[in-house]
Amino acid sequence: MQINKAIFPVAGLGTRFLPATKAQPKEMLPVVDKPLIQYAVEEAYAAGIREMIFVTGRHKRPIEDHFDMSFELEVGLEQAGKQELLEVVRSVKPDDMECIYVRQAQALGLGHAVLCGQRLVGNEPFAVLLADDLMVGPQGQPVLKQMVEQFREWRVSILAVQEVPAEHTRRYGIVAGAPVSDKLVDVQRIVEKPAPDVAPSRLGVAGRYILTPGVFHEIASQPRGVGGEIQLTDGIAGLLRREKVFAYRYEGKRYDCGSKEGFLQANVELALAHPELGPGFREYLQSLPI
Ligand code: G1P
Repeated sequence: MQINKAIFPVAGLGTRFLPATKAQPKEMLPVVDKPLIQYAVEEAYAAGIREMIFVTGRHKRPIEDHFDMSFELEVGLEQAGKQELLEVVRSVKPDDMECIYVRQAQALGLGHAVLCGQRLVGNEPFAVLLADDLMVGPQGQPVLKQMVEQFREWRVSILAVQEVPAEHTRRYGIVAGAPVSDKLVDVQRIVEKPAPDVAPSRLGVAGRYILTPGVFHEIASQPRGVGGEIQLTDGIAGLLRREKVFAYRYEGKRYDCGSKEGFLQANVELALAHPELGPGFREYLQSLPI
């Protein structure tokens, strides 16, 4: 079974990055030379997904513009003979990729955002990608692609997880269950942002999910959860009672670009890995008196 559709919840206000996000979506903040949302879209595309569903809100027009054709820019670059830049601009939205936008009128939580994509997803399994989490997998193995491969084998919902420090359990959905292999856990419990003393484990959910469509009904029937929000985690907890859900320890690194620290780390590490900028930037960093 193929995963064809991905939901990108992008309606959040990004208050942690004010004033940078006063008039600009946080998903458009660049890491080196690409906006955060483009990393997530490229990851979905690399996993074989072609239908991108953005759950947007007010002030998110720049995201739509980014994935639209920029006619004047393309003509200008073409006339100037700047073929390489033209390719860069065109590659943002390959011809076989479709972008669809749906508005989340009220910020009622991540579960609510996912529910806004229900009609567009229909009755098939789908992916959810949180652009705040920038995921860098090994060469040729982006994290969502690894998850799609797991889904093909097991045909159950798959949640990306990583070990998190005990003092950070309050930042994540935390799962616990029985090991299926060294990479997979058969999830028996999932709790949104528990305190360390009640957290069922230290396996935290990163912002990548493959979910079966049954989750929509479960999200819709849960009461408001942590922070008074409709939580995706609570919907998944409901799903667990009817279906198997696996947690998958992905290979790769996650940068928490919802925090300033993680965002800066992503910029430094991706700049160091950049084929053109890397060597010079490394020299520059080494020259700093730190
Ligand atoms: C959301 C989810 C949480 C998950 C996290 C991953 O929280 O609610 O379960 O672990 O994303 O980044 P947020 O970071 O939006 O508060």
